[in-house]
Amino acid sequence: MRLKPKYKDLLPSSHVPQEPFLRSLMASSGTRTATPDLDDLLCHSSPGQKQSGDRESNIPSEEVTPNGNGYTFIGRCLRGDSRIEQAWVHWTKLGRPKRIVAPMVDNSELPFRMLCRKYGAEAAYTPMLHSRIFTESEKYRNEEFSTCKEDRPLFVQFCANDPDILLEAASRVETYCDYVDINLGCPQRIARRGNYGAFLMDNLPLIKSMVEKLSSNLNVPVSCKIRLFHKIEDTISYARMLEEAGCSLLAVHGRRRDEKDQKKVRANWTAIRSVKSALKIPVLANGNIRHIEDAHRCLEETGCDGVLSAESLLENPALFAGFRTAEWVLENEASLRDGELDQTDVFVEYLKLCEKYPVPWRMIRAHTHKMLGDWFRIHPQVREELNAQSRLSFEFLHEIANKLRALGGRIPLYVRNTNEDEILESGLTA
Ligand SMILES: Cc1cc2nc3c(=O)[nH]c(=O)nc-3n(C[C@H](O)[C@H](O)[C@H](O)COP(=O)(O)O)c2cc1C
Repeated sequence: MRLKPKYKDLLPSSHVPQEPFLRSLMASSGTRTATPDLDDLLCHSSPGQKQSGDRESNIPSEEVTPNGNGYTFIGRCLRGDSRIEQAWVHWTKLGRPKRIVAPMVDNSELPFRMLCRKYGAEAAYTPMLHSRIFTESEKYRNEEFSTCKEDRPLFVQFCANDPDILLEAASRVETYCDYVDINLGCPQRIARRGNYGAFLMDNLPLIKSMVEKLSSNLNVPVSCKIRLFHKIEDTISYARMLEEAGCSLLAVHGRRRDEKDQKKVRANWTAIRSVKSALKIPVLANGNIRHIEDAHRCLEETGCDGVLSAESLLENPALFAGFRTAEWVLENEASLRDGELDQTDVFVEYLKLCEKYPVPWRMIRAHTHKMLGDWFRIHPQVREELNAQSRLSFEFLHEIANKLRALGGRIPLYVRNTNEDEILESGLTA
């Protein structure tokens, strides 16, 4: 039997953290003035800026709980049905989470995950981490990955094209997460150049070898996030190959690699349903979850075990608790009322979490634009002030929230006309 390695044993001695594991960072000059587009985000590979004050993380190492519940996944030494059974045992131990924060480069960082968890998310993915850079650069590891004991269940996602490097990167995080996830869905130019993400769909033997490598060497299960092939039969064969190679959970983004414009192309839930029906492991659906009723409908229509949401959560991190932005309040929906939660309130909660769990300012800036987007459309001069500020500070950002409030009006999030408990309890567990 393989003994479980301690995290520090996996690191070269020069990399053993002196104090807290995985410092999340902090501050910087924040020279960006506009929200970066998705392509830029996914092209990002350079370490970020530090938050002002250069404070170190306040996450003491003892607060991070390696394999939180002391339970070890034993699927790696099993084959066939026993491994599938273990995949379900693991998923069940995690409470079968249904509302899940999707991986988002520069956007699904620790404070954002914690905010979404407060508002109903039951699990979350980290942003995609570059496996090679993760193994080579301590700075990159410290800046791009942080966690805390409440940040569970957690999927840590990597992009990779080399099984050995991927295993080395995964070994560094396995005790701090519940799945190591392989990004097989990134459709951006940088992924084509770097030969990872959805471009590996042209090299299925390589994908198979990466899944096999992880599943036979890690103590946590392997999950994958994929896109669709043109033909549904090809997508199903692909998904089955992943399952046979040792993938214990599959997230299916219901769009193809060439369908990059998510606003124009609706996700194909019918195709996701076909994949779910063909597999034995837990399957998650991704695409077009704009509010909680979409999540209910998606679960029903696809038969999946959970849903991931990405873009809509950025504007409305309270989505999984049943709150909707005004955009999704239809005229005939008399049953919706003001949820007594304003977007500036949620933004201030996010800032407080960033003070507690420091992250690069570029991430905070991106979230500011998304969370306050509706306000900025009404008061564009405040957005310009934000854009003109090359170095951000918490004081400045709190001031922005106060200024918007002082300008008058509210931009509430809406909820169904039921009592609060029902909102949280409703739906996804029903
Ligand atoms: C800002 C942003 C960053 C993203 N980064 C990643 C990533 O790191 N890994 C990944 O697998 N998908 C990434 N995606 C794709 C999402 O996880 C998700 O598959 C896609 O947005 C579809 O879900 P949605 O319709 O809920 O937005 C990203 C999406 C956005 C909007």
